Amino acid sequence: MTNNAVHAGTTLTEQESQAGLDLRQLQELVGLVDYDPSTDPFPVTGWDSIVFVVGNATMTAHYYQSVWGMELVAYAGPETGNRDHKAFVLRSGSIRFVIKGAVAPDSPLIAHHAKHGDGVVDIGLEVPDVDVCIAQAKRAGATILAEPYEVSDEFGTVRLAAIATYGETRHTLVQRVVNGVRYAGPHVPGYVPRTSGFVKREGSPKRLFQALDHVVGNVELGKMDEWVEFYNKVMGFVNMAEFVGDDIATDYSALMSKVVANGNHRVKFPLNEPAIAKKRSQIDEYLDFYAGPGAQHLALATNDILQTVDALRLEGVEFLDTPDAYYDDPELRARIGHVRVPIEELKTRKILVDRDEDGYLLQIFTKPLGDRPTVFFEIIERHGSLGFGKGNFKALFESIEREQDKRGNL
Ligand SMILES: [Fe+2]
Repeated sequence: MTNNAVHAGTTLTEQESQAGLDLRQLQELVGLVDYDPSTDPFPVTGWDSIVFVVGNATMTAHYYQSVWGMELVAYAGPETGNRDHKAFVLRSGSIRFVIKGAVAPDSPLIAHHAKHGDGVVDIGLEVPDVDVCIAQAKRAGATILAEPYEVSDEFGTVRLAAIATYGETRHTLVQRVVNGVRYAGPHVPGYVPRTSGFVKREGSPKRLFQALDHVVGNVELGKMDEWVEFYNKVMGFVNMAEFVGDDIATDYSALMSKVVANGNHRVKFPLNEPAIAKKRSQIDEYLDFYAGPGAQHLALATNDILQTVDALRLEGVEFLDTPDAYYDDPELRARIGHVRVPIEELKTRKILVDRDEDGYLLQIFTKPLGDRPTVFFEIIERHGSLGFGKGNFKALFESIEREQDKRGNL
């Protein structure tokens, strides 16, 4: 069977082609499925770029290169006519991060950063037709933050619009093919191509991750179903099977979670809300320190989680701990069955395993990336499973609670 037969209606995005990925690999990495966009009221091709606002973009951009193995591809800032802020575009596989930090003392980014700390301000989505999406968003009652508009430079034209999602987070919709011509620049008009003098260590992997799997949103108590409905009604996203909204609880804290996905499943949004338990939920801690709803974690897909975790640890990235008892539990061993590496290899690296009827996944979570206990990353290696590690939630949450307690927030 050819790749095209597997995914008759789903083709590689430009970013995936550039990254040298193929459809079979993406099916394995992020659970990409075939679907028919012609009946989709709000067709979404996939992720465009994830925009972070941080306190110091210059240093953060260096961190993502030196520690996370990302590659600098574009830049905007005072030298290119943007006197308000600096913005660095970094790439790994098909993932694109834009790291923004204020330059002008009156930049609107300063107020955003003062309130939320380092975080994700924009989850950009690539769409084939911005106007179709905005018309649908209006019909469904979404808040339109920017009506469709075009920007051009010597590389061509991009058509953009934006809608509001939870908190002060937005979805910029990016149409990269306008009048049949694909924009040829490194990001969007206003950005110039830029590489960096940073040289990777000898022997370090080509890249540490290939694709973005999911972005989790934390919302207030009682709001999860509203946001699930938003993604269903406004964006035509479908509910994924795993979560039915049961409490996921430890002895202390609890949360509820449901997952929505776009038609081809490239874009997956788990949505969490706190649930009532003996002590304060980890979601409450996030909401307090982010000062409202926002993006909680980004799951980065890799085809070699052992290599990725080893490389990140070498650079000093801190992961949540998993007690040895997790790996020695006979029930776990029986449940997960055969995985591609010996359990001991996972145990030494504290990598978690989960299995469902479709296959298994390996995953691990970093500690919060910045100063506030808010945004963090997950590293995920999927082998058929389309889940999110539900079987690991208890072990994982106990680990999160130990950290929360150290911060005095449990
Ligand atoms: Fe996750």
